Amino acid sequence: MKSEPLAGRRILVAVSGSIAAVKVPALVSALVQRGAQVRCVLTPSAARLVSPVALASLSRNPCLLEDHQWAAGQPRPLHIELAEWAELVLLVPLTASTLARLVHGLADNLVASTLLACRAPLLVAAAMNTDMWEAPAVQRNWQQLATLPLLLPLAPAAQGLLACDRQGVGRMVEPALILLAAESLLLHGPSQDLAGRRLLVTAGPSREAFDPARFLSNPSSGRMGVRLAQAARLRGAQVRLLHGPLEDDPALMEGLECHSFSTAAQLQQLLREQQPWAEAVLMAAAVADQRLRQPLAEKLPKQQLQDLLLRPESWEPVPDLLQELLGRRPPGQLLLGFAAYTGNGLEQARRKFESKGCDLLFANPVDQPGLGFGSDSNQGWLLTKEAEPLALGPCGKLALAHQLLGALASHWA
Ligand SMILES: Cc1cc2nc3c(=O)[nH]c(=O)nc-3n(C[C@H](O)[C@H](O)[C@H](O)COP(=O)(O)O)c2cc1C
Repeated sequence: MKSEPLAGRRILVAVSGSIAAVKVPALVSALVQRGAQVRCVLTPSAARLVSPVALASLSRNPCLLEDHQWAAGQPRPLHIELAEWAELVLLVPLTASTLARLVHGLADNLVASTLLACRAPLLVAAAMNTDMWEAPAVQRNWQQLATLPLLLPLAPAAQGLLACDRQGVGRMVEPALILLAAESLLLHGPSQDLAGRRLLVTAGPSREAFDPARFLSNPSSGRMGVRLAQAARLRGAQVRLLHGPLEDDPALMEGLECHSFSTAAQLQQLLREQQPWAEAVLMAAAVADQRLRQPLAEKLPKQQLQDLLLRPESWEPVPDLLQELLGRRPPGQLLLGFAAYTGNGLEQARRKFESKGCDLLFANPVDQPGLGFGSDSNQGWLLTKEAEPLALGPCGKLALAHQLLGALASHWA
């Protein structure tokens, strides 16, 4: 059921000379596993930091080095051939030198001349020592780079241990995020149609404790919400993510302002604080419906557990957080609700949409293998006030996230 935006696509991986180049083999391997055709091209410095033989082997193609462009057997200029071949270029990692070449139009090596000749979308992931990154000349070049068309810039991670033993900004973002950003570029292109928009996204399950050892929850992994948040960020939005316990790659949280919750009550508090900031709230979190009136401070003996759980007076409903959001939303704020269903989805979705009153509702099945809860794919119905229900998917959660964001963006168009 998993759909692959990378399958069959021609991806050129250009590598410049940062120590983060040692992460490129893992990235290339992941691209190939997702069905991409991959070619690698290295600057002379990069070729000293990462093995061209490993990249050739992992990409199933010769790894291209500086001298190859001067080979007598090369019928067309190699930089032109590569530039025309690529559908997408990943410049990972991006060094200070290669950044300066890009911004100033220098074509003094094979990587730089290929990039200058190429009209395909370009994703760059910068990597540098903190002082290098913060140097005014580098910052100036980085700001200028962002103005190039067809470009998706990934700034270094805000924190991390660098090869120079410092803790700080400069580490290249992880291959998992580069992969997600590459998929995002192929699905949506580099358009910044959400530039400056303030989006509040919730993700993951709530956990309602019985006692310190037990809780009531659901199988939500949080992946849908995390992909909504990252897709929105890559389209230029400012994103705040309120998340429960996630089953997702932590590398995908980079660049998001994250606030964690465990219980519905904590999420309720976070929403009260954050809602006024947002222009849109996307409620992908799977919040429990019921909770114990009084969670126990000490672990209950097994024999008494059944008694407690079976007494109706032990329980109370969790407040309807979507309803609360609707009740106090500022003028113009958009609300996207989510609903999980089993059986006939459209009927249930229509009823929920009419009773809730949010602007958009996405209803998805949770009884189909490989879809919804805990998986990488999803499908469902998108309900809006303006149009007939729209069937979305089955497709990857990132593709779905882009479709939902497109529906949201159309309200602002
Ligand atoms: C071990 C090592 C690690 C390096 N790491 C980085 C780095 O992370 N970022 C960077 O901009 N330069 C780094 N450099 C310096 C670049 O390799 C150097 O500036 C080189 O000219 C870059 O050329 P290129 O962009 O053509 O690959 C590193 C150098 C060495 C020897």
